[in-house]
Amino acid sequence: MQRLRIYNAEHKHIPRICEIENAVFDDAWSHQSFAELMSGDKCHFYLAEVDGVIAGYVGIMVVLDEFHLLNFAVLPEYQSQGIGGELMTEILLLAKKADVQGITLECRASNHRAISFYESIGFDLVGHRKGYYENKEDAAIMWHRMDSITITLAIETSCDETAVSVLIGGRNMLSNVVYSQVDLHKIYGGVVPEIASRNHLDTIAEAVDLALEQAGVGLENLDLIAVTNGPGLVGALLVGVAYAKALSYSLGIDLIGVNHIEGHIASNYISHLKLKPPFLALVVSGGHTQLIEVRTYTEMKIIGESGDDAVGEAYDKVARTLGLGYPGGPLVEELAAEGMDCLDFPRPMLHSGDLNFSFSGLKSAVLNHINSCNMKGEDLNIPDICASFQAAVVDILRAKCKSALESTGLSILAISGGVSANKAVLGALQFEGVRTYAPSASLCGDNAGMIASAGYYHYISGQKSDLKLNADPSLRAGETYLKS
Ligand code: KG4
Ligand code: ZN
Repeated sequence: MQRLRIYNAEHKHIPRICEIENAVFDDAWSHQSFAELMSGDKCHFYLAEVDGVIAGYVGIMVVLDEFHLLNFAVLPEYQSQGIGGELMTEILLLAKKADVQGITLECRASNHRAISFYESIGFDLVGHRKGYYENKEDAAIMWHRMDSITITLAIETSCDETAVSVLIGGRNMLSNVVYSQVDLHKIYGGVVPEIASRNHLDTIAEAVDLALEQAGVGLENLDLIAVTNGPGLVGALLVGVAYAKALSYSLGIDLIGVNHIEGHIASNYISHLKLKPPFLALVVSGGHTQLIEVRTYTEMKIIGESGDDAVGEAYDKVARTLGLGYPGGPLVEELAAEGMDCLDFPRPMLHSGDLNFSFSGLKSAVLNHINSCNMKGEDLNIPDICASFQAAVVDILRAKCKSALESTGLSILAISGGVSANKAVLGALQFEGVRTYAPSASLCGDNAGMIASAGYYHYISGQKSDLKLNADPSLRAGETYLKS
């Protein structure tokens, strides 16, 4: 995996900055221009280094209480990897800490790619400067108001991950700390609720401190505390909710309760800056399998769901019966790649005519096959079992997503939740004329970045919670703010 580091540029970096300039712009700035700008105290340049290679940079000038973005470039071969987003996140954080009013920039009016990138991170197109460039092309003037920027600290403790994240705006993650308890639960083959709550209690304070430290912000920089208040294990949820309430009260800042499933949906906002509702969401996790019509950032409707096991749960139970370990999803996926889809497992509700799912029948068919082989003393072909089980899962998910896309007329599908890390599932959910999104690997499973993002969108739409916020283990997506 690539490692990205962002740091201050010094004079010695100017030759490299010029190389990047020359590779990206026809009218590149000279070495001398950079040297002059860097010698004053008004301009600051930041570098993005990927695996030891400086791949991009951004420069700002401080003018009264504004930041002017000077130049911003990422080498072509490093573009579309989120490096630009990371560099801009750094600038937003600096602007927020410097308490400036906003950030302004100009770019070529014909550079639609750049304009849409800046819009995706919160800039507005506010006007044009006629004939600004040497070839008389107009400049588009863009502006990012800082009073609209929220720094959110989010807490997620709904199951067996103690997660804390700091987000600036709705999509720029400054830190994403996940303390997994998986080793504690492994020996039981699944999550033990009492152990989960106790462990959240032990680690939450440390996770909060680490998330702040990694984000480079202090408690005084926070504007909002977001917390998962359901669905999930009630004891586990309560730890996060109580901690979040105490933080919000003691800091005197707003609090917002977030639905965990809406959080999974929002994980795609962080991974794909341009993704906007409306779209169809498929949430496939250890606790839920739901098709959700996402109409706006805060309004959504469940249009299909599993009446029994969730997909992730079926993966875990199959893995457990095969003695593979916990969590089972990644292990079954790995073995499935070595096997053949030669066992004819059922595809329950494939033709039910609605958008609902059932996975317990499939799971039982797999367990029966395993038991029957064991009783007959036949060898188990574990890769074939995994491949055949996964093929059935994929067929069901594909058929239901296809129907849901047709019936809603939506042309974007965003999958999320632990099972969205599965390459076979993602590969099967590609449809003609439809763009399919899945979160980056670190955001597929439970995390607090997604909770911060969902919380942020509810917050800017005018919603918030108060100190009466409580854990609700059976909360449903789209309902959190209908109840209050
Ligand atoms: O979203 P998540 O981390 O937690 C819940 O909210 O449930 O999902 C965990 C589930 C587990 O059941 C795990 O086995 C499954 O996601 N999972 C996978 C894969 N990675 C995790 N299932 C299939 N293939 C995977 N690669
Ligand atoms: Zn989850």
